Amino acid sequence: MRDLMRDLMRRSGDRIFVTVDKSSALYRKVFDLFERPAVFNAYQTVVDGGKGRQIRRFLQSVQFESVIDIGCGTGNWAELVDVPYLGIDSSPSFIAGCTRRFAGDTTKRFVQADAADLEIVEQFDLAMLISVLHHLSDAEVDRLLSWLSGCAKQFFVLDLYPVNRNPLSRWLYRMDRGDFVRERDEQRQLLERGGHFSVVKEDDYYCPNGLYRHTLFLLRREARSPG
Ligand SMILES: C[S@@+](CC[C@H](N)C(=O)[O-])C[C@H]1O[C@@H](n2cnc3c(N)ncnc32)[C@H](O)[C@@H]1O
Repeated sequence: MRDLMRDLMRRSGDRIFVTVDKSSALYRKVFDLFERPAVFNAYQTVVDGGKGRQIRRFLQSVQFESVIDIGCGTGNWAELVDVPYLGIDSSPSFIAGCTRRFAGDTTKRFVQADAADLEIVEQFDLAMLISVLHHLSDAEVDRLLSWLSGCAKQFFVLDLYPVNRNPLSRWLYRMDRGDFVRERDEQRQLLERGGHFSVVKEDDYYCPNGLYRHTLFLLRREARSPG
């Protein structure tokens, strides 16, 4: 218990700071817990709720007959679409969970792969990257945009961005498994980098408890994308 407290807190004078050491054994244990689909889903519902409603609202006027969902997690957004769907995630436990969850649905497929190093020959009307951008470095996003522009016409991105005035929120963002939380303008610039896609619509929202806020971007493939 003392080790656990030492992991979490640092004293400076009279003040105690809550710290996050992502290399610590404690962090690793928490990380492993979040690889369990039930734990991940419970956290999403309780702490970062309302995402499904926001996604539906933002995408309601977007036409699509097929979807590739990059970093599909536990498959929650496969439930939102009734068109052929390919979910990709680097987590073996999430992909195994998705495969079990949609075992009876032949329109939903799931593949374990790294989003930054893919080659997809199939064509999709819509690619989705939901709460994954902050897991990818700039170089990884560049590689993702490059292969994606060869197989998707439209690209929907939702990601968190900082809520600086709330200490609990700042701590949760530091605890996040993604190391690349970016401001809204940085996200837009990164997504348009390389000339593959352009933003045609954007929005943002706070989750109901105010701890997280998210950007939403819809991008279209450039007619003359470098590919
Ligand atoms: C915060 S979760 C979001 C999951 C899902 N999109 C959702 O909104 O419920 C981030 C997901 O991205 C996946 N991920 C992180 N880095 C990845 C990478 N390089 N390639 C593929 N998936 C990745 C993680 O395994 C995790 O499932």
